Amino acid sequence: MQVNGREYRAVWMEGSTVFMIDQNELPFEFKIVEAHQYQDTCHAIRTMLIRGAGAIGAAAGFAMAQAFLQAPKKGTKEFILNARYEIEATRPTARNLFYAVDRVFRAGSGSSEHAVIEAQDIADEDARDSRNIGKYGNELIKDGYSICTHCNAGWLAFVDYGTALSPVYRAHKKGKNVFVYVDETRPRGQGARLTAWELFHAGIPHVIIPDNATASLMSQGKINIMIVGADRVAANGDLANKIGTLEKAIIARTFNVPFYVAAPCSTIDLDCESGSHITIEEREEDEVLYQKGIDREGEIHEILVCSPGSHAFNPAFDITPAHLITGIITEKGIIKPDERSILSLFTENK
Ligand code: MRU
Repeated sequence: MQVNGREYRAVWMEGSTVFMIDQNELPFEFKIVEAHQYQDTCHAIRTMLIRGAGAIGAAAGFAMAQAFLQAPKKGTKEFILNARYEIEATRPTARNLFYAVDRVFRAGSGSSEHAVIEAQDIADEDARDSRNIGKYGNELIKDGYSICTHCNAGWLAFVDYGTALSPVYRAHKKGKNVFVYVDETRPRGQGARLTAWELFHAGIPHVIIPDNATASLMSQGKINIMIVGADRVAANGDLANKIGTLEKAIIARTFNVPFYVAAPCSTIDLDCESGSHITIEEREEDEVLYQKGIDREGEIHEILVCSPGSHAFNPAFDITPAHLITGIITEKGIIKPDERSILSLFTENK
């Protein structure tokens, strides 16, 4: 997507260096960070400089390729296995991370060049799949629709285009009038900081809403459709996504608002029977207790926003059961969130 008239991806690799848009600095600063070694790329994933299922999948694939390039002649196998373990330990929930590492690990048994090619392929496929999700998802969006989304499942969360926002970009490009309600998505504010930044730069009308405003807006008929992304979809259609997604799905069902999940097949985990088997990441309490912002003089500060001395509990994701999901928008079409339809994505020639 374009930023200041230039095409960017959220993450890319040139030579042995991984380049990433620093998502911890957005929306106040647009900064590209370079990771020269796989350990630097791991650090970027762990600290959420790069985040979002597809983007951390691509970054993890590049990290695995970097490990092959860095491997010493003696003790190669041990080095590669340790690197794999380290990359997989960065974040537990998004399926794309494990999918990418596994593919690059296998390819690297041929040569480090094979590993790099595979990692680049994964990134290209992610961008292509996201674009196709936009084509299918656009069919759900009528002229004049208001769409609500949670967290950031835009192009920053993938390599390009995004998932939940890809249909919105497509609809806007096709000349439809669309309006987006952006959940702020506490505690890290991926909606308020990142989705809003993306939409602002794309010229798409939107407002940021407090996380607890969705029910009220839906009860007034102000939201036509809800589209969210996914960190992992289980074989039965259960969804792991940013904390708060479950609440939105329950509210959407209450007010008869269609609730769609946009996700590529690389996010679907056929080995995971149901949502109860998905590991939910618990992050540090400071993400809840402190907030970062910019003052009127342009200075960035991190400040305590809770009662001093109180502790916080910070689960990063929740599980939405399949029965609350209207459909899954994939790169191969829109499917029902059930085992048979999900399996058909991998077995039929789609
Ligand atoms: O913790 P994050 O910011 O990596 O979580 C991202 C989300 O939950 C997104 O909604 C999800 O990844 C789907 S879009 C990639």
